[in-house]
Formats: sequence, structure tokens, C-alpha cells
Amino acid sequence: MTLNEFFEDLDHYESPIPLEELREKMELLKVNLPDLNGALRFGEKNYRRTLLHKGPAYEALLICWSHGQRSPIHDHRGSACGVRVLCGSATETRFELSGKGYVHPVGTDRLSEGETTASADADIHQVSNLQGDRTDLVTLHVYSPPLRSMRSYSIDSSDPEGTFGPAFRSRQGAVAERSDKKINKS
Ligand SMILES: [Fe+2]
Repeated sequence: MTLNEFFEDLDHYESPIPLEELREKMELLKVNLPDLNGALRFGEKNYRRTLLHKGPAYEALLICWSHGQRSPIHDHRGSACGVRVLCGSATETRFELSGKGYVHPVGTDRLSEGETTASADADIHQVSNLQGDRTDLVTLHVYSPPLRSMRSYSIDSSDPEGTFGPAFRSRQGAVAERSDKKINKS
């Protein structure tokens, strides 16, 4: 299934896409990275998110991560999320809340190129590019319903740091871009 066929399929949904259906469809995707050329943008300091497509029940973001970049520890506040690794390998650490409100890690997975993972709205996780040799990571994220806000957490605090959504996106969009636009592969 090409990316355009994938979006045409998802555009038919009027209500949130069931998580397992989203995962199965993302596993069938065949993405040709050069086709995404205009969206392959890296930030010098932070990972860079670009909206690829939006339908009634979802939005699809391309995220480019240079070596060492990572997301906050976060949940998705009402949106399920499917992630497909398009280039490189991603590290996903999952967290749970303790009774006193602190988050603690409960597992880490390495997702190789071509692999898909899916998480429910309340799941807490962190995605990182921990590859060596300055290797880049490119991931496709589908949020259903479209992401409105996320809550970030710190392992040092029992208070979530509030929500970030559109403001977070524009903050990411404001960062300087890496001058070389080529993808660094291992
Ligand atoms: Fe996430």
C-alpha cells in the first residue's frame, strides 16, 4: 500500500480509527523515502515535525530526528498513535505512573526500520534516536483523533508539566534547520 493509498483509506474514517486497525494498515505501508523529499527536514537542536496529511479522524506527521534527539516523556491525551520507522532505528521507552504520581520506566524496545508500534491515548512513552555514528531517524506518526494536546512528564516530579500541542508544534517548527538536508545512514 503506497502512502497515498494509505491516506485515501484512512480518509474514509469519520470516527477514531481502532488501534489494531491502525497498526495493521501501517504495517502494510510501503514508503519510498525520496517521495517525501520536501518533508524531510531536520532541526539542529530538536526533532522536527511536519504535517503530511490530515483526514476527518486522523493526522499524519513525519518526524525527523538527528542523532541524540528525543521526545519528552509524554502521553497523547485522547489520541491513539501508530508509529512506523521509515529510516534508521528508534528507541521507545515506556513508563507507568506510580501511586504517588511519579513516572518510572517499565521497558525499552528498539524499533528497526520497517517496524510499527501503536500506543493508546493514556500510554506514557519517550522516543529517542540513540543510534551511533550520527545516524538519522525518520518516523511516520498517525494520531487518531488528531492530536490536540499532550502531557509531558519528568522522572524528577510528580506533577505533569502541563500540556503541549499546537504551541509545541510551532516551537519545534521555529528551530534552525540543519544545513545539510541529506539523510545520514549507518
Ligand atoms: Fe508519542
